[in-house]
Amino acid sequence: MTKLGRLYSMFDSVQLPDNLPYTQVSKWELQFLYLVGRHHLTGRDRIVELGSGGGGSTYALAMGLQENPAFDEKKGRLHAYDFFRVGKGTFATEKFFSAGHKPEDDNSFLNDFRARLEPFLPFLEIHAGDLWQTSDPDDTSPVEFLHIDIAKTARVFQCVSERFLTRMQPGSVVLHQDFAGPRLPWLHYSTGALLPYIEIAGPPIRSTLAFEVTQPIPADVLKRISEDDFTVDEKLALMTAVQDRVDRDHTGGIPFKSVLELAKAYVAHYDGQHKRAWSIAKTLRDDEYLSRTRADHFEQLKKAYDAEPKVSTMTRLKKLVGKK
Ligand SMILES: C[S@@+](CC[C@H](N)C(=O)[O-])C[C@H]1O[C@@H](n2cnc3c(N)ncnc32)[C@H](O)[C@@H]1O
Repeated sequence: MTKLGRLYSMFDSVQLPDNLPYTQVSKWELQFLYLVGRHHLTGRDRIVELGSGGGGSTYALAMGLQENPAFDEKKGRLHAYDFFRVGKGTFATEKFFSAGHKPEDDNSFLNDFRARLEPFLPFLEIHAGDLWQTSDPDDTSPVEFLHIDIAKTARVFQCVSERFLTRMQPGSVVLHQDFAGPRLPWLHYSTGALLPYIEIAGPPIRSTLAFEVTQPIPADVLKRISEDDFTVDEKLALMTAVQDRVDRDHTGGIPFKSVLELAKAYVAHYDGQHKRAWSIAKTLRDDEYLSRTRADHFEQLKKAYDAEPKVSTMTRLKKLVGKK
């Protein structure tokens, strides 16, 4: 069992306050963040959260760190990155405001975040704004822990992989939020590319996959990940390798093999191969979990397939004959 794996037996020991900031992550994921902070991290290297939102996940992690005897609040730092504002393209919700909605004249929830995280401000370093601007491309300092709840587009994932995954070393821990999101296949195939150098902690915790780096990650592997330098077939093969390692999540609710299969359809979809995407997706419509939770995904993939001009068998035959 990995060192992280032992945390799975400790969920019941976690008591989080009832008045946590609004959060988009589940109770189990908050508990796991607490456990990592409380029992695993040291603060020796950077502790980073990408996508803090209204601070629910930050709170759980910070509380764990504060109660961790190995973590020195005077020296250790928790770095929180987010836009800390709502608006087009931010993926932030008005629920991140303490009032539950945006005031008329201000789209920033940074002050609300600060107020809620007040007990932890002495060791919290806040980076407000677009990650491409707030992260330093020249910073190569090692990262001990990375909570990734920000990579909702391929472009943001590029920033995450270029500027943060490159700083992981043996012993570093990564938590991928939204691993159950079929529309974010870069999380899945990048994990596939990393498999020889990491150890998956155990079943995903709801939507979160946790892993520990066990071997130095070669620079060319990191370069391919940040440049998204894989063919569609390579991406699908990498995802199959991850499917071989993950099944149901810890709570039994999410069937990851099916989720990743639907994510494969999105690899083809993003590549403009709508026929291929739909041929993967249509076989999954009978899956109980996917049909219940991802009806909109099927609709999107089918719509793109239907909108594609179809080449008739006759035209194809004519083309073939013409070629001879
Ligand atoms: C799913 S939410 C985070 C939820 C949070 N961890 C919680 O506990 O509720 C994703 C966050 O990523 C942030 N985000 C997305 N793209 C970003 C970018 N390019 N730069 C900074 N923040 C970004 C959004 O502002 C949003 O708050």
